Formats: sequence, C-alpha cells, structure tokens
Amino acid sequence: MIVCVCRRISDREIARHARAGLGFDEIQFELGVATQCGQCEGCARDVVAQCSGSCPTAHIKLATHPLEGSTWNHPSPSLQLSPAA
Ligand code: FES
Repeated sequence: MIVCVCRRISDREIARHARAGLGFDEIQFELGVATQCGQCEGCARDVVAQCSGSCPTAHIKLATHPLEGSTWNHPSPSLQLSPAA
C-alpha cells in the first residue's frame, strides 16, 4: 500500500527501513516520506512504530517464509528444521 502519495513510498519500504533499525526521522531523511504535503506523516509513523524494535513480534507478522509464521500452530517435530547430519 502506498503511504506517501507525493513521494510514492509504500508501507513495505518504510517497514523494511524500520526493521533495519532506523527511526522515523532517519527514514524521512532517507526516503523523503512526509516531506511535501505532510498528510502521510501519521500513517508513516504508525508503520515505523509497528515495525520498530519495541515490537518483538513484528518479525513474525511480517514473515515471508511459509514455515516462519506457521510453526507456532504446528508443534510437530517433523515440521521443525534441523541442521543436516
Ligand atoms: S503524501 Fe506524503 S508528503 Fe504528501
């Protein structure tokens, strides 16, 4: 979803930067989000807050690998990854 229409910046791009440890001000400087009309600032800040280090489960919600998010529902040892012997 596009968060900043003026700069064409998506929530995924903002989230990627937030997960890398950048704060809103750094992301704003890096991407230019909320630097024109400013209408997107609240939404952009919400995305950063949801993905920042203060939310330890953010990586679970945003997991891209199919097994990463589902292992909590499948405690079967057959689904757990183990190093090759
Ligand atoms: S929508 Fe982001 S600065 Fe205008």
